[in-house]
Amino acid sequence: MSTNREHITIAPNGQPPERQPRWRQDFPIDWPEDHYVARRDFTKFMVLTSFAFVAGQAWIVVQNLLRSRRGQPPLRQIAAVNQLAIGQSLAFNYPAEHDTCLLVRTGENRFVAFDQRCTHLSCAVVPEPDKKRFLCPCHNGSFDLETGKPLAGPPRRPLARIKLEIVNDAIYAAGVELSTV
Ligand code: FES
Repeated sequence: MSTNREHITIAPNGQPPERQPRWRQDFPIDWPEDHYVARRDFTKFMVLTSFAFVAGQAWIVVQNLLRSRRGQPPLRQIAAVNQLAIGQSLAFNYPAEHDTCLLVRTGENRFVAFDQRCTHLSCAVVPEPDKKRFLCPCHNGSFDLETGKPLAGPPRRPLARIKLEIVNDAIYAAGVELSTV
């Protein structure tokens, strides 16, 4: 705390700053005190966010160890939560480099991801969020944007869903759910 007493206002109760109630210490009116509180709060913020980051990274390492023992593909970061506006989409590769998938933000807190290959003859589907569907231009097939289920055209099976996990505002691909219907 600053020791420059010339810049410290005398509180109405006449007590020195260190004997003031907690609320007055947390909301000071003097610049030196105010800077001290701002620095203290910033340091707290940095410690907490660093801890959250380290905890998140440790969680991912543990998850990937468990996943490799179970023969599952590893978690892979594909985007940051704020990277996509509602209705926007992003192509990524998962689980292998040649497996193209689509991540779509369908709501404030809602993301979905599917393998981009149409379940009819493997053409690439295209998201049409305004129509709440994926369109396959090859034979005019379409799939529900939220569930991946076929809506129209030749496809009979849903798109393969990519499981998602969100950790520290990052979105991770966490496995593939193959269609069973
Ligand atoms: S390949 Fe998609 S509808 Fe035929």
